[in-house]
Amino acid sequence: MTKIYGDGDNKVKALDDVSFSIEQGEVVLIVGSSGSGKSTLLNMIGLLDSPTNGNIFIDEVNTTTLNDDQISSFRNKKLGFIFQFSNLLSDLSVLENILLPIQIAGTKSSSEKEAIDLLKAVGLETQIHKRANKISGGQAQRVAIARGLINKPSIVLADEPTGNLDSVTSQLIVDLMKSMAIKLNQTFVIVTHDRQHFGTVDKVITIKDGKAFEGEEPPTMEITV
Ligand SMILES: Nc1ncnc2c1ncn2[C@@H]1O[C@H](COP(=O)(O)OP(=O)(O)OP(=O)(O)O)[C@@H](O)[C@H]1O
Ligand SMILES: [Mg+2]
Repeated sequence: MTKIYGDGDNKVKALDDVSFSIEQGEVVLIVGSSGSGKSTLLNMIGLLDSPTNGNIFIDEVNTTTLNDDQISSFRNKKLGFIFQFSNLLSDLSVLENILLPIQIAGTKSSSEKEAIDLLKAVGLETQIHKRANKISGGQAQRVAIARGLINKPSIVLADEPTGNLDSVTSQLIVDLMKSMAIKLNQTFVIVTHDRQHFGTVDKVITIKDGKAFEGEEPPTMEITV
């Protein structure tokens, strides 16, 4: 799959013929330096944007053939998002923010009790009824994590989920995601600069200049003269 932004002189090849597969239930890290194409890749997998060339299959569905309505419904049912800028609705309470995806999907896949359990798991049980604009940035990040998990999406996409968090909280979040992957067979695709907190994971994909390599490091360049 290839993603090119812009055209003419402004053309940027953000992803250059990347190809890999992820199994259900795997915890996969996407690592690489700033500007290498990690968020672009996550946006493609999350169906927030479409590739310039190539296809993305999720559960054997070629998502590039879906229309906008089908994409929205696919996203609401199967995908959960945890983004760097948490975008909470400031007039709603912490709990109400977490319950939003349930209302949007129109399913009863989770209850208020599960929302409270998730809030406990991210260490926010004392903040449940606070308004979202009255909590700190790190707390908001944790609310966004709980919100991304509430619908028990089969695939969770996270862009720097531990980005604003201290080391202890980061570890809490990492452990929560890893245990959910096992308990609920959820797939986690996580962009991170925080490699060490994740310990052992199922797969690491390294992005370098828009190319994807499986493993911790891109292969060393071979020079033949
Ligand atoms: N909407 C866009 N329009 C044009 N170019 C873009 C757009 N989004 C990203 N790019 C470019 O594509 C390349 C990859 O960007 P991307 O955001 O995927 O990097 P990243 O690996 O997530 O970086 P970071 O670690 O800083 O978040 C960069 O050169 C970036 O400038
Ligand atoms: Mg990014």
